[in-house]
Amino acid sequence: MFLTREEERALEGEFGPGLALAMRILVKLGDLYGAEKLVPIQSAHVSGVSYKTAGDAAIEFLKELCELGARASVPATTNPCGFNECILDLLDLPSDVITRQEELVALYERLGVSRTLTCVPYYQLRPGAGSHLAWAESSAVVYANSVIGALTNREGAPSALAAAIAGKVPDHGLHRPENRKPGLLIDVDFKPKDEVELWAIGFFVGQVAKDTVPLLKDLKGLSDWELKGLGAAMASGGMTAMFSLAEIGQEQARKELEKIQVSQEDVRTVIDKLSSTGEPDLIFIGCPHCSREELELLAALLRDRKVRPGKHLWICTSRHLRDACPSLVEAIEASGALVVADTCVVVSWVERLGVDLVATNSPKAAYYLPGLSGVEVRLASLRECVELACSKSSS
Ligand code: F3S
Repeated sequence: MFLTREEERALEGEFGPGLALAMRILVKLGDLYGAEKLVPIQSAHVSGVSYKTAGDAAIEFLKELCELGARASVPATTNPCGFNECILDLLDLPSDVITRQEELVALYERLGVSRTLTCVPYYQLRPGAGSHLAWAESSAVVYANSVIGALTNREGAPSALAAAIAGKVPDHGLHRPENRKPGLLIDVDFKPKDEVELWAIGFFVGQVAKDTVPLLKDLKGLSDWELKGLGAAMASGGMTAMFSLAEIGQEQARKELEKIQVSQEDVRTVIDKLSSTGEPDLIFIGCPHCSREELELLAALLRDRKVRPGKHLWICTSRHLRDACPSLVEAIEASGALVVADTCVVVSWVERLGVDLVATNSPKAAYYLPGLSGVEVRLASLRECVELACSKSSS
């Protein structure tokens, strides 16, 4: 890989051992993927922040970087961690787990990575269209590439952090215009009835598209939160990092692409595989973290409703949005629901709540929860989730 004189000096340690280590990681990855150079990035977003999923290895790696004097040189944000203060009593975690989680977040802060603790960093620090990024959260990566028009690969936690420190990333994959062209045409032959069906289409597409960019025909007029969930589902179904919605002018491309038809039956199969039946103890909305639009919708649906005794309704969002929307938070929490920032049901220790079945509208959560927390999942739309959580009577 070609390096500028400045980059060579950084690699040789002239600007400190922390930057040198970050450069070594990036150069190794660049060589592995056949990148010709590094490109400057506007921001980095790091995953591996929940102690539940990242463990002690992450703490050791971050400590080493801190000791070497590494520091982020571009704006950098963090994915959710394992808890926040409002659910700490409910989880009743051992004190050493709390200490390790706090240490993990503090180490990121020492490295100059902001304590955003959200998987929707784009609602707080919106990247520009056409800007290069190094983001590690797969749902945020798809959103950045497909909705914003920024350019990022699916980074791992160490490579996103190395890129944050160096302010650069190897120029390969979705940083290159030739790799952002659609490689597969997806023809959906029915109209999804709600977001669960829409996102199950996404999950199916993720499974078949592998690492190509799918072009989705016939899915028009989707709202921001529907697009957010669609991308998250694709990224959990497979390695998808970008999708494209059919636009005028793509007629020629559409004719040349291999076509895959998605039927209602395909989607039913996805939902049946991811979903159980039964009465949920915990109802979870906000995978990825809720946008303002979803908080508004939930506040309206929960007006004059009460969460039934024995049930938990968690609405997960960023601390940034929680702080920015106090009246929505108040309206939602008046029902007995919790608006939980900094974490989510998937990366927290929900098994400690004594929960057997979680209802959620997110195929991504449904895919990961059984393996991570040993709970069953029932897929239900946001509206159905509110019905599952609340008593019928309006107070
Ligand atoms: Fe975000 Fe947790 Fe889902 S980190 S994308 S809410 S699994």
